Amino acid sequence: MKSSLNIGLAVVAVLIAIIPGAVLAEDTKLEHTEAARAAAMRLGKTLKARLVSTMKTQGPVAAVTVCAEDAYAIAAQVSEDTGMDVGRRALRVRNPGNAPDAWEREALSQFLAAQDRGEDVSKLERSATVRTADGDVFYWAKPILLEQPCTTCHGSAVEPALAATITDYYPNDQATGFAVGDVRGIFSVKKRLP
Ligand code: HEC
Repeated sequence: MKSSLNIGLAVVAVLIAIIPGAVLAEDTKLEHTEAARAAAMRLGKTLKARLVSTMKTQGPVAAVTVCAEDAYAIAAQVSEDTGMDVGRRALRVRNPGNAPDAWEREALSQFLAAQDRGEDVSKLERSATVRTADGDVFYWAKPILLEQPCTTCHGSAVEPALAATITDYYPNDQATGFAVGDVRGIFSVKKRLP
């Protein structure tokens, strides 16, 4: 038992000696992944809390500006604090500015396909290091699932006055007709690597 542990440790020691670059890359990836998770959680929690409290105190029409403006302010703050580019993306967008890039689109498609197969997507995430024209970028994504309070503005029966306000802001809105539990979009985190 003890000797097999020793052999195991020796193998690890040799591997670390041979492939320091690879080990370092794995460590760095884990570090970025954990930072991305925390950043996405902060954006999601802050935004949801503000949405729910504004809907309660001022009604859903007023809360539209929370999603339209506060979402960016919160995302910008989290991005500044973490040095990562943190945001929300979707395939059926309300704001065309939230359309995904190629990697994000693929991640979204995979999450939607997993949901179509009946998988529990709530714990899924994807990450990759992507070579771009501007250098390597670490990408991370996690599904945003629709919850009950979200149906007010993204469900199948949006109240007419609210629907009119939404269409005023977003004439090409595609983000209604969702049910609780549906993959509504993703939290996307990107970090340019040195
Ligand atoms: C008061 C209305 C309202 C509620 C409630 C609401 N949203 Fe939104 N949502 C919007 C608006 C408006 C936008 C467009 C924001 C923008 O301009 O980026 C949006 C955009 C989004 C986007 C970005 C992609 C896109 O379509 O532009 C996601 C993802 C999203 N909402 C998810 C949710 C989730 C999840 C909830 C529930 C926790 C929720 N929303 C609750 C109004 C709402």
